[in-house]
Amino acid sequence: MTTAARQSKEIPSVDIVSLFRMMPKFRRDALGTFSEIARLGDVVKFKGLWTSYLLTEPAHIEHVLQTNSRNYNKGRVYKELIPSTGEGLFVTDGDVWRRQRRFAQPAFHKDRIASFARIMTDSTEAMLERWRAKENEPLEIGGEMLQLTLGIVGKALFSRDISYGADAVNNAFDVIREHTMRRLTSFFKLPQSLPFPRNIRFRKAVAEADKLFYDVIEHRRNEKSDHDDLLEMLMAARDEETDSAMSDKELRDQALTIIGAGYETTTQALAWTWYLLSQHPEAEAKLHAELSSVLNGRTPTFEDVPNLQYTLMVFQEAMRLYPPAWMLARTAIDDDEIGGHTIPGKSEVLLLTAYTHRHPKYWPNPDDFNPENFSLENVAARPRFTYFPFGGGPRQCIGNNFAQMEAQLIIATVAQRYRLRLADGQTVEPEPSVTLRPRNGIGMKVFSRY
Ligand code: HEM
Repeated sequence: MTTAARQSKEIPSVDIVSLFRMMPKFRRDALGTFSEIARLGDVVKFKGLWTSYLLTEPAHIEHVLQTNSRNYNKGRVYKELIPSTGEGLFVTDGDVWRRQRRFAQPAFHKDRIASFARIMTDSTEAMLERWRAKENEPLEIGGEMLQLTLGIVGKALFSRDISYGADAVNNAFDVIREHTMRRLTSFFKLPQSLPFPRNIRFRKAVAEADKLFYDVIEHRRNEKSDHDDLLEMLMAARDEETDSAMSDKELRDQALTIIGAGYETTTQALAWTWYLLSQHPEAEAKLHAELSSVLNGRTPTFEDVPNLQYTLMVFQEAMRLYPPAWMLARTAIDDDEIGGHTIPGKSEVLLLTAYTHRHPKYWPNPDDFNPENFSLENVAARPRFTYFPFGGGPRQCIGNNFAQMEAQLIIATVAQRYRLRLADGQTVEPEPSVTLRPRNGIGMKVFSRY
């Protein structure tokens, strides 16, 4: 690694030879290796096959995501999603993205998503019924959360249960997710049009998902009755400038994007939450005290959500330590200047969320689990972009209110009934894949609280 002297405007950098030498280390521990590099400076240059800049300072992150966001496109990494999600909200840029966001935004308004609270608690209670028969067996908590959140997003989107065992299409989502993750994390990529079994499996899975989505859309177009779901809201939306509605292809792309973006992230955040609570009985006791005083054994409702403040703080702290979107990427359009350094147009900018969330300058005892980090005073005392699990600026996660409400309701419903503890012999370590997930999952046992 060559660290350029930190004189004025000279930038710490990692050249292609050092990058090549570091490959085994990256493969073993990508997060640790990125963090080591981040410690070289606020802006670190990577000169590999293309040039990237690693940013970890909150003011620089605010600059890219918010203040000068018009100079940054989603870029290379996100384009890997196009074969599955098409031109969905997550990957598009410029005017196409602006039109899509205008369309979709109202469907995610706080008042509109209120009607999903019931789906969230009903689905959680159905899961708890299944757990009742498994009280002495270890559960893989990530798998449980995946099934739960996939079920919830499917019902919220088009009133249909697509969770495991409920609908054949969940297999298609598995294949799409695995395939996309593999491509995103592999160095050499062969064209997807080649007839390898993996590519054929992927194309079949996309075709299966397409069939489901187009069938539902067509059915809805011919139906007279109203549904209270996201698809209905997306279909009713009109572009305020042109008064046009979304085409079937646009609806399909947005629906697949919402499912893709909406369950893997929430799953991992919840899996980490259960793990952290199991390791911190004092925080768990405070959570139980809040649930007793707000709910007293009742199933939570939408009206309870603002009162479940400690529950939210626990979830926020879990996403601080283990942010599902552990790194964000952008491509600069024109030259820019960040921290006194020139960022040339076309170069890539990497925002290392997982590092900034534990930045020693901004977080006391950064590796400790402390939900009090999210008390009103502590939040007010920190710069805005020390914490950005949902990104920020115009491209901030459209589902952030949905995800937070979902997490609060799931945590409250489960923790009222069960205490979760690690199964024997579990070692838990983070694996930075597309999301930051626990390598090998987390085996846990559930213990009834009553
Ligand atoms: C804990 C759960 C979640 C986390 C941590 C999360 C994180 C994020 C982040 C970091 C971004 C911005 C990516 C970037 O700037 O490059 C994003 C965008 C997005 N998220 Fe989420 N998300 C979560 C849940 C959801 C849910 C539940 C939905 C939908 C139901 C959703 C839909 C989307 C969409 C459509 C975008 C693209 C928005 C745009 O570019 O305009 N997310 N998410």
